[in-house]
Amino acid sequence: MANETIPRLESYDDVALTKAFGELKLQFNQEAMLSGSPEGRESLRVDWLGRKQGRLTQISSIWLKTAPDSAKRSLGQRFNEFKAYIEQSIAQELSVESAGSGRPLDAIDISLPGTRSRIGIEHPLIKTMNEIVAVFKSMGYSVGVGPEVETDYYNFESLNFPPNHPARDTQDTLVVAGQERKALRDRLLMRTHTSPVQIRTMEQQAPPVRIVIPGKVHRNDAADATHSPIFHQVEGLCVDTNITFSDLKGTLDHAMKAFFGSSVKTRFFPSFFPFTEPSADVQISCIFCGGKGCRKCKHSGWIELLGCGMVDPAVFGAVQQKQPGYDPKKISGFAFGMGVERIAMMKYGVSDIGQFYSGDMRFLEQFA
Ligand code: DAH
Repeated sequence: MANETIPRLESYDDVALTKAFGELKLQFNQEAMLSGSPEGRESLRVDWLGRKQGRLTQISSIWLKTAPDSAKRSLGQRFNEFKAYIEQSIAQELSVESAGSGRPLDAIDISLPGTRSRIGIEHPLIKTMNEIVAVFKSMGYSVGVGPEVETDYYNFESLNFPPNHPARDTQDTLVVAGQERKALRDRLLMRTHTSPVQIRTMEQQAPPVRIVIPGKVHRNDAADATHSPIFHQVEGLCVDTNITFSDLKGTLDHAMKAFFGSSVKTRFFPSFFPFTEPSADVQISCIFCGGKGCRKCKHSGWIELLGCGMVDPAVFGAVQQKQPGYDPKKISGFAFGMGVERIAMMKYGVSDIGQFYSGDMRFLEQFA
């Protein structure tokens, strides 16, 4: 391509000049079209615009210098136009090249390894939640969910927390603003626990019921190493004829052994929840020291893990309007609720709850 001979000008009249520059333009355009790679475009540039050997330099020396004075003016004008055209075309080609992803459009090296998309892993909290749910599923429980924005009625009143009852204070509630004109029971809030889904489930389904409910809950708690304003719970509910406290004990004892290992023991302490009577806190023998006493269990040998109890007749009373089958004289049931973060922290030895929400892959990938 380089150093193509410059055609001789036959004459300097308009027709001859138009023809000569037309041919040069055609030649340039053809070469430009074929100059696919960055290297090709660079050699095109040198070939045409190069100072010493470039074709424009040659044209100017052969045509202009030998032209008779009468033709110099129009030849010079056409030459300048042609030069501007070449410069512009070459500048445009180069800018197309650099406007891409930094990579020349046609310089794709198919032998390079591709950009690998990272395969996600199950988040440790979801994993823990799924493992807990799986234990209950294997005992015949179904799985349910409910809304995170809840009404006062489902979060509190139906669960036997009357308005102004001090037990509401144990659940620092985030309420949705601007609802003063609504009746208290209809006001919206962020659910403080998964227990409202007990009521929603019973309203939808006549007894018997065996269900676990994993989900996100919200409380107006300041974040520290063990608290987060958003956390997760797994709720459980079992209602049938003749359900007793020993069913509750047997079920939770089995669940803890299935989850933490068969050597784990459980014990039940009296407690209070408005929606269960009697209520209990469940402790498991310390999974770190086996019950001998260590720093993790504050030398007691036991770790408190969940709340539970027999469903309070007042709770059945609340759903009876919609499902008359929940007659506390004919059926009974138990319920339980546990914090997923607390269990995951214990199981994986995590000391700061905030790490679960940090999005730090170095932390999260350890649980893959
Ligand atoms: N909802 C309770 C809480 O968030 C936990 C709980 C305790 C749930 C006892 C239950 C239960 O179903 O029976 O503190």
